[in-house]
Amino acid sequence: MMRLQIFIGGLLFLLPLFARSQSIHLEQRVDSLLGLMTLEEKVGQLHQISSDFAATGPITHEGEKQDRVRQGKVGSYLNVTGAERTRSLQSIAMQSRLKIPLLFAQDVIHGYRTIFPLPLAEAASWDLKAIEQSARIAATEAAAVGIHWTFAPMVDISRDPRWGRVMEGAGEDTYLGSLIAAARVKGFQGKGLGSLDAVMACAKHFAAYGAAEGGRDYNTTDMSLRRLHEVYLPPFKAAADAGVASFMNSFNDISGIPATAHAYLQRTLLKGDWNFKGLVVSDWGSIGEMINHGYATDTADAAKKAIVAGSDIDMESRAYVGQLIDLVKRKEIPESVIDEAVRRVLRKKFQLGLFDDPYRFSDEAREKAVWNDPAHRKAAREMAKKSIVLLKNEPIKSTGKPLLPLAADKKIALIGPLVKAIGDNNGFWSYSWPDDSVRIVSLWKGMENKLGSAKNLIYAKGCELSGTDTLGFAAARTAARQADIVVVSVGEAGNMSGEAKSRSEIRLPGLQEQLVRELVATGKPVVVLISAGRPLVFNWIADNAPAILYTWWLGTEAGNAIAEVLFGDYNPSGKLPMTFPRSEGQIPIYYNHFNTGRPFKSDSDNIYVTAYTDLPNSPLYPFGYGLSYTMFEYGKIELSADTMTAGGSIKAKVKVKNTGSYAGEEVVQLYIQDVAASLVRPVRELKAFEKIRLMSGETIEVAFTITEKELAFYREDLRLAAESGRFHVFVGGNSQATEQAIFHLK
Ligand code: BGC
Repeated sequence: MMRLQIFIGGLLFLLPLFARSQSIHLEQRVDSLLGLMTLEEKVGQLHQISSDFAATGPITHEGEKQDRVRQGKVGSYLNVTGAERTRSLQSIAMQSRLKIPLLFAQDVIHGYRTIFPLPLAEAASWDLKAIEQSARIAATEAAAVGIHWTFAPMVDISRDPRWGRVMEGAGEDTYLGSLIAAARVKGFQGKGLGSLDAVMACAKHFAAYGAAEGGRDYNTTDMSLRRLHEVYLPPFKAAADAGVASFMNSFNDISGIPATAHAYLQRTLLKGDWNFKGLVVSDWGSIGEMINHGYATDTADAAKKAIVAGSDIDMESRAYVGQLIDLVKRKEIPESVIDEAVRRVLRKKFQLGLFDDPYRFSDEAREKAVWNDPAHRKAAREMAKKSIVLLKNEPIKSTGKPLLPLAADKKIALIGPLVKAIGDNNGFWSYSWPDDSVRIVSLWKGMENKLGSAKNLIYAKGCELSGTDTLGFAAARTAARQADIVVVSVGEAGNMSGEAKSRSEIRLPGLQEQLVRELVATGKPVVVLISAGRPLVFNWIADNAPAILYTWWLGTEAGNAIAEVLFGDYNPSGKLPMTFPRSEGQIPIYYNHFNTGRPFKSDSDNIYVTAYTDLPNSPLYPFGYGLSYTMFEYGKIELSADTMTAGGSIKAKVKVKNTGSYAGEEVVQLYIQDVAASLVRPVRELKAFEKIRLMSGETIEVAFTITEKELAFYREDLRLAAESGRFHVFVGGNSQATEQAIFHLK
């Protein structure tokens, strides 16, 4: 026994050496292949083109793409789908001189065959394990059809719900966003590149894309380096630390420099300080677009600026393939710059095992096996339930009890333009399959599934999603009057949020709010379901409807998940990952803002304070907010000490009691404020959270450990460090938590 232990111990000791020799071996393989390549073949590796399937930008049909592949002049493809197609394209690459396999990339953002909730919706679960699992399943399905690389996760922080791409990220908070970024990377990459069910992940869009001015997609951004480091970069760093295989840069400029040619971001920080060994891909056409930015005079200038700044692959600009060879020949850039980028591409192809078997991912049998895996649907349903946020649930007159959950024996009028929607449930960045009409569970179908039949359900559409037609109102009112309870389903169309989907007004489109008013006016209790890819503005509904569930877009299992929540089979536990404004005029609105020199105080009539004359400063619903069918009571915060010494720690303990009559989950959130420092600090910042489940009547004590890490910030010299002084700690169920304690850092 002893000898065996010693033997195993010896092996463990050798493991790092083994890993090192593996990586030396990899570098040798990369270098020896590079040595065989012509300049044309090298540049080919940096050229990425799209097949016509699911394109997101204009495709220039110059020449025959497949001929180029045959000549070894294409390194990667995006938007090729299906094991058969990836295999057949790969076989063309195998006819090239050096037989360097193609990489196949795809935007697998929230599922491939099985569609999960929008990434923003998943963020509302605050459940990192479930989020990782969602990415894991997406990777399993995508890898089986020959996809090697997903352009996800999007880790852009955004404080602007007008920006259509908020649906694709994790919301406004840097801390939560960083944890989710890491979870998604781990999910996509599974046991690591080379595993047959793993795809390369891609942290995008580097950087600050979510800060587009006016919330208008692709717009300019301008900010201090400190804000960039403090708010926008940490999720990228978290992705890099989690081993993300690639980064994508972004369409925007940052204080005058397009991200695509941002040498500080890509060379100094990412490939320098962060020691990132993966590859950097441009966004679609973003190299060529630097001419429009006014940053490059022509395509050659754009290509030169991008490669010098560290963009390795050119997605669809055709600037590299058209210009890099001449640029090297004219000695405007050294070949070593090209070599460095090509090495990054080859390294990934080796790590994926493509040189050993270029077809190893394109597997029709595996594609079939994962295509309709019931475990995937089950996970999608669980994720969908966890993503729903209960915004309001007031007692109604007839029972004196909160309207939700519903009793199964009631007559329910299901009204609204989204009740029978199918494809919309998938939201933006998802794939349509021929059997969608039977596979995707609409709200109507989900309710029918839950109740066993539609005999207690009445349907009326009420109105269209947009337009001004009131013809359906009368039938909707009649349906409401025939029922005990009204459930109205309103929102955006599935493709109203997403890329290039910025909106200046984020109200319910068309006459949907009026439809809700008509239904509330019938006197029947009304549950409002709001489906959207972003926070919407819906003040009248918030004030007048007794119950509201925010249902985002929940994917393949949407209807089943909503029905389970409506009837209380699942007690909602979601918490908003973004602040919900009262009006577009409040945007940007986020909880971790600065205080200003003239903060607003509700108990003072001084008007010379930071405020609107026509609106409160407060949001409609704060970050971190979400109700449950049960209630949670927070005790006082107990700190283990009132002073923390440098390098030390403090424990903050809080008792949380479930005082309601249902078992339920609560996300216990800890916020910290650095009261006075060498730079102005936010009024509070999320620093930790724990999701707990409590039975009715149960009390759980939650303990958080606070160290200097939680207190540190980017100081004027951009060094991350904590400063001594007073700190406030808040613990509660949302970002307006009032339970407070104080300690000092010595
Ligand atoms: C988007 C990227 C996406 C790429 C490829 C671009 O328009 O900004 O996020 O990965 O298209 O589809």
